[in-house]
Amino acid sequence: MPKIKIAPSILSADLSKVNQEIKEVERYADMIHVDIMDGVFVPRTTVNADFVKTIKTKLPLDVHLMVHEPSDSYIKGFVDAGAYSITIHEEACKNLSKQIGFIKKNRIKAGISIKPNTSLDKLKKYLGIVDMVLIMTVEPGWAGQKFIQSTMSKVRELRKLKPEIDIEVDGGIDPLTARIAFEEGANVFVAGTSIFSRKDRAAAIKEILQGLK
Ligand code: DX5
Ligand code: ZN
Repeated sequence: MPKIKIAPSILSADLSKVNQEIKEVERYADMIHVDIMDGVFVPRTTVNADFVKTIKTKLPLDVHLMVHEPSDSYIKGFVDAGAYSITIHEEACKNLSKQIGFIKKNRIKAGISIKPNTSLDKLKKYLGIVDMVLIMTVEPGWAGQKFIQSTMSKVRELRKLKPEIDIEVDGGIDPLTARIAFEEGANVFVAGTSIFSRKDRAAAIKEILQGLK
């Protein structure tokens, strides 16, 4: 089983002081999860590559593109902004291998994601060329939603297929649901509300980690 990583999602942080917010989790987290929404693939829009450029952290930036057909130049914007990994959605791209290939060509990690109602079968042919699979545990678009338990069968199946791959879960992750996903085989845990709604962010992360022992 690959290393456990905690990735606080800054979608739930105060973006007007994002670097200060990141400082409070930096010592305890492994990556910073950055949600990019285009208003097409999902109804809302969030921050862009120019914003990502202003993020100052020693942690890797885990960029989650909830974006319809991201072009090479769009993806390159996030590479140049310092992304460590870029994850794209199966439902958003007609020719996934093209975008995965472009991300890999830029020598950063490539991830693919599926929404709760998308079958794992849609991803199987890409499993050999990606570094990470993001199994969405809520519908993409909003923070603060309830964890969808039925997504766990995909985590379980994927872990059997790929013992070494990073399996990320995102949406409604707290100490309890992180434990559930961990038992099924997830090793990368994105958490927004359960970390940034708390005054003591370090304690919030420690509580998640405590459940993963
Ligand atoms: C939702 C985003 C998540 C979001 C998770 O579309 O992909 O990363 O920030 O937020 P919580 O942890 O509050 O469910
Ligand atoms: Zn996300």
